[in-house]
Amino acid sequence: MIELRAVHKQFGATRAVDGVSLRIAPGSITALIGASGSGKSTLLRLINRMVELDGGQILLDGQDIRDGPPEALRRRMGYVIQSTGLFPHWTVARNIATVPVLLGWPAAQCAHRVDELLALLGLEPERYRGRYPHQLSGGQQQRVGVARALAARPAVLLMDEPFGALDPVTRQSLQQALAQLQQALGTTIVLVTHDIDEALRLGQRLVLMDQGRVVQAGTPAQLLAQPASPQVSDFLGRATLGQRLLGLRRVAEILRPGEAACGAPLQPGQSLQDALAAFLLRRADRLPVADAQGRPLGAIRFIDLLQDPR
Ligand SMILES: Nc1ncnc2c1ncn2[C@@H]1O[C@H](COP(=O)(O)OP(=O)(O)O)[C@@H](O)[C@H]1O
Ligand SMILES: [Mg+2]
Repeated sequence: MIELRAVHKQFGATRAVDGVSLRIAPGSITALIGASGSGKSTLLRLINRMVELDGGQILLDGQDIRDGPPEALRRRMGYVIQSTGLFPHWTVARNIATVPVLLGWPAAQCAHRVDELLALLGLEPERYRGRYPHQLSGGQQQRVGVARALAARPAVLLMDEPFGALDPVTRQSLQQALAQLQQALGTTIVLVTHDIDEALRLGQRLVLMDQGRVVQAGTPAQLLAQPASPQVSDFLGRATLGQRLLGLRRVAEILRPGEAACGAPLQPGQSLQDALAAFLLRRADRLPVADAQGRPLGAIRFIDLLQDPR
């Protein structure tokens, strides 16, 4: 658990972070969103003491982060930024093992951890561990950056617009990899992003910032369905709010078991945004649903999209 209590940071006359209190639950993904200059990066860097706070307190598992040297704290927290900061003259393996080597892990344990992380991130260890960063695509470099940040099994991973420089397809596949990884490892992730769809896809909790303050914090559904102010709905994209809300819900929620319909089936795990597109494209008011093996499960009705979420 990370707890921020009335945290304050000022640069000259600029209140970069202005009285922020937050509790970040262990094993969750929190997305910090907000306009450029709203204080997201500063808040993230306060957590690993790359920036020192002027007021307030930050606790990690109940302990003040200022107890002890910042280097020790940073070894317990992975940090990933847009430009990966990989060392160009080091192999992928050496890059990933940076912190374990610093911590004095035996070579065999480092090598094992490197291969394990490469595999988790979808890079074949035999093929990639001996390469240099310039021999990788941007997306592969970013995967290595994430692997490096996770190498010493940090409980916390701080990410500052990690996928911002990648094309949409690569970005989506990295988001997927990150979500799976987080499920497997239970890492607490704090992710800064200006991409609202990324925040909705990955964030279990969203924190919207403006001028150093928290405007609203809550689940994606809370921010979309009960925005605290017009500013919140503006930021989330007023015109597409409905679609985004549907994007958070699954076909399974409105499934009518045993009911029949014609056409190619949807799967229960697809979003209601996909379902809406299918209703419109096929000009149908009912669509069949089947499992991954094609066994019929039932149908969904267009009218059910209008119901309040269960
Ligand atoms: N090292 C710094 N020195 C001076 N001003 C800074 C520094 N870092 C951030 N700021 C200012 O603090 C405010 C918040 O910046 P930042 O946290 O980077 O916002 P965001 O990540 O949301 O774009 C901005 O006005 C920015 O110019
Ligand atoms: Mg920033």
